[in-house]
Amino acid sequence: MAFVETLAAPTRILIVDDDASVRDVISVLLQEEGYECRTAAGAEEALDIAAQEAPPLVISDMKMPGRDGIWLLEAFRERHPETAVVMLTGYGDTEAAVDCLRRGAVDYLLKPPKLTDLIRAIERALAKRRIELARKRYQKKLERKVRDRTAELRSAFKDIAQTYQNTLLALVAALDAREHETSDHSQRVVKYTTAIAERLSLQGPDLEELGRGALLHDIGKIGVPDAVLLKPGKLTPAEWGEMRKHPDTGHQMIQSIPFLATPATIVLSHQERFDGGGYPRKLRGEEIHIGARIFAVADTLDAMTSDRPYRKATSFENAMAEVQRCSGSQFDPEVVRAFVDIGVDGLRKIRLDMALARARAPQAIAGDADEAEAKFDAALDALPKVAQR
Ligand SMILES: [Fe+2]
Repeated sequence: MAFVETLAAPTRILIVDDDASVRDVISVLLQEEGYECRTAAGAEEALDIAAQEAPPLVISDMKMPGRDGIWLLEAFRERHPETAVVMLTGYGDTEAAVDCLRRGAVDYLLKPPKLTDLIRAIERALAKRRIELARKRYQKKLERKVRDRTAELRSAFKDIAQTYQNTLLALVAALDAREHETSDHSQRVVKYTTAIAERLSLQGPDLEELGRGALLHDIGKIGVPDAVLLKPGKLTPAEWGEMRKHPDTGHQMIQSIPFLATPATIVLSHQERFDGGGYPRKLRGEEIHIGARIFAVADTLDAMTSDRPYRKATSFENAMAEVQRCSGSQFDPEVVRAFVDIGVDGLRKIRLDMALARARAPQAIAGDADEAEAKFDAALDALPKVAQR
């Protein structure tokens, strides 16, 4: 039970001494001064009393049979840190007096104490205690404020990050719409890229940067003229020249945005090949950013397992075999190993989870309820096939 101090109630003091006459004298004197006193003949009895209601102040003899005053002082520091302890020491025992101050007593008095010294020591101890309690209350309040502000800040950062992400998604959706595609492709490639990266033990901010790089990989196609980008037939060498500018264009677009520095590198390198046969810089091996090496595998998988106007989608098994065939030439063998590790079922599940999430998204339903329902049904249809494998 906590000791309740009010202006009207007298301050309680616990006097601990094995000598009954000392206890009684101090007790009577202090009661005359308006304090409410309780007494204990030993340290353990004092602790029993304090366990029921901790007093603001304890005056304790240093030398007592059994547990002594130092022991009691330490017990109070541990169990009732808000109680101030004043020690009574014998003459010539300065060393012990210094020792008890070091252990947390607020003051010490020589025995037998004079009344004026006693009252002064009590008032000093109580004032010190009040300041200490106020300091602790202030500290707690401050800590709570810091915690609240940190939470607010964290939430604001989260909102900003989400806003950035939504802006990027809108940008990519606009780009995909120009190519008459849904933005599913870019977002699936993000998921495959992240899954492979996790197998390669990449984590935290690295994963997010890789995801953004994968999402934005073709952002530079904004600079490719419609006549080239949307041409149904084969491209001429000059048109290929235009097309091949898109990694550079994308890189230039986003490189000056600080939080897109790594994604910009991935954008610039996403058409490179492990054997040096890619573009625009003909980088090879580890010269190519790991994010771009992972992306290359993810992009090929999604391209092969998705329908195109000029061909049907192939199976995940075929796509995996093709990726393995190109290990060491088009793709980094280490990345291919991590990719194979995910397995056909794991990859198919990623695609299925995305289709389910998309079909459930409110904007999909608001945009086209029938299409959303059809997508949802298709996703559900695919579910048992995965479970059976
Ligand atoms: Fe590209």
